Amino acid sequence: MHAVTEHSAPFQYSDAAHKEVKSLMTKYPEGRGKSAIIRALHIAQEENEGWLSVPAMDHVAEVLGITPIEVYEVASFYSMYNLAPVGKYVLEFCQTGPCAIEGAERIIEYTKLKLGIGKNQITPDGMFTIKQVECLGACGYAPMMQVGEFFHEHLDEAKIDQFIEDCKAGKIDKGTWKMH
Ligand code: FES
Repeated sequence: MHAVTEHSAPFQYSDAAHKEVKSLMTKYPEGRGKSAIIRALHIAQEENEGWLSVPAMDHVAEVLGITPIEVYEVASFYSMYNLAPVGKYVLEFCQTGPCAIEGAERIIEYTKLKLGIGKNQITPDGMFTIKQVECLGACGYAPMMQVGEFFHEHLDEAKIDQFIEDCKAGKIDKGTWKMH
């Protein structure tokens, strides 16, 4: 679970996003708009440079017709939501048992040293953030990380080097929040 971070920049869905969320809400019974919260938060995150500020979450609450605390509870429960600013590419390393046994800690430390950042920090060029998360369901391919929509599996130092190089060369266009 993460702490909810304050940020004052105002947030509002784009017209298209607002329409999408409203349309999602119609798929649930009257008064159950909250059921659309998972996607509604993803959309807000995508439109807020990859993270959910308090104004963004408050806006989601307003659109869904629920209280802000109901949104904070969900947003702070799942590691896929970022409650503080992040880099363009968020490297979410699994640190749970099977990945740990296969060397996740070594790979995470290697990446931190290579990028010169710690957990939840952003590189000075705004490109990368490292997160450590729990099982992402790819235990058979350990150690692994998720970046945006993609899993990167059987990680080793060479694969990390290549991935970072590819990001810097613009060969990887799917970062954290450009999900479409
Ligand atoms: S333990 Fe890492 S994906 Fe399941």
